[in-house]
Amino acid sequence: MKTRLVHVDRSAPDEQAIASAADVLARGGLVAFPTETVYGLGAHALDERAVAALFAAKERPLSDPVIVHVASADAVGRIARDFPPAARAVAARFWPGPITLVLPKQSRVPAAITAGLDTVGIRVPAHPVAEALLRRSAIPIAAPSANRFSQPSPTRAEHVLADLDERIDLVLDAGPTMVGVESTVLDLTRSPPLVRRPGAVAIEALRELLPDVEMASASGDSGQPQPAPGQLLRHYAPRARLTLHIGHTPGVLARVAAEARTLAATGARVGILAPEEDLTALAPSLAPLAAIGRVRVSGYGARRDPARAARELFDALRRLDAEGVDEILATALDPQEIGLAVLDRLTRAAEGRVRRS
Ligand code: TXA
Ligand code: MG
Repeated sequence: MKTRLVHVDRSAPDEQAIASAADVLARGGLVAFPTETVYGLGAHALDERAVAALFAAKERPLSDPVIVHVASADAVGRIARDFPPAARAVAARFWPGPITLVLPKQSRVPAAITAGLDTVGIRVPAHPVAEALLRRSAIPIAAPSANRFSQPSPTRAEHVLADLDERIDLVLDAGPTMVGVESTVLDLTRSPPLVRRPGAVAIEALRELLPDVEMASASGDSGQPQPAPGQLLRHYAPRARLTLHIGHTPGVLARVAAEARTLAATGARVGILAPEEDLTALAPSLAPLAAIGRVRVSGYGARRDPARAARELFDALRRLDAEGVDEILATALDPQEIGLAVLDRLTRAAEGRVRRS
């Protein structure tokens, strides 16, 4: 199938473009569209064939439930069986916005969407294009991130095309997304509520509303609450092998530099994925390796600007991967606010290769 790319103005999306995208969805087609977090791959959530096509295009395992996007909290009653007071309070505070509420599902929601679970993830996105599409189509839109399974989430239309060209009908391109990491997934079907995926709404902000909210572990260690289905370690894996270095900055940087030298000596091409401050500190020790083409650096934002770091993370990761490096050495942000989501995504990309200094 030919994939159409249509540019839309982020702040004033063209009605014609939105109408034609809504039409594709109504007919059971697949439309990639920007949300404030990442691009989503949309399908009519109540159309089983469209949902099946969505999983096929992404090569997504059927065990991984997808999020249903709606235009406003008023639509939750059509998807969920119950909308308890705590969930309403979170919705009132953060919607439209980057938090997904897991609630008991209604039987009309196809089992494929929820991977057979009795619960469904719902969110109201805060992006003018997503909002216009939801209003115009007047349907609930199932939308996982618009990447091929196990690739990093797309924050630009180019990323969507790199993964899904000729597999979907349409991409609405409104430029880079504003947040860059996916929504926080909050399970409100248990008490106390559980954050199943850290994301753009920080746990610190959630605690102001839900003081007893708990955090699922990223690794699914036994003894910890189960992570969300689909929250397997191998989830954001680049082609290159990524090792994440965490801990005290001076120790971490010394180790990254040493590791880069060791790997380069074996003939590997090494990519460094790190915030600006780390790259600056590493520059003197990496210069000799960079000069002989053994090292590539890819910066994502800065420690002093965690929001920018989150926004740039997936693009920086994809750029390194596209350069064909064999090994990626990454450093993360401190695990506060949105830094926790950045750390979580890098931990998953590392598939367990996490070194502590
Ligand atoms: O920011 C986002 O959430 C983006 C944009 C497009 O909205 N979407 C996104 O979707 O990241 P996806 O499919 O890549 O991630 C959905 C994740 C699942 O892997 C799972 O962890 C969780 O949301 N999830 C969805 N439904 C769930 C449910 N019923 N119970 C538990 N977790 C659920
Ligand atoms: Mg995803």
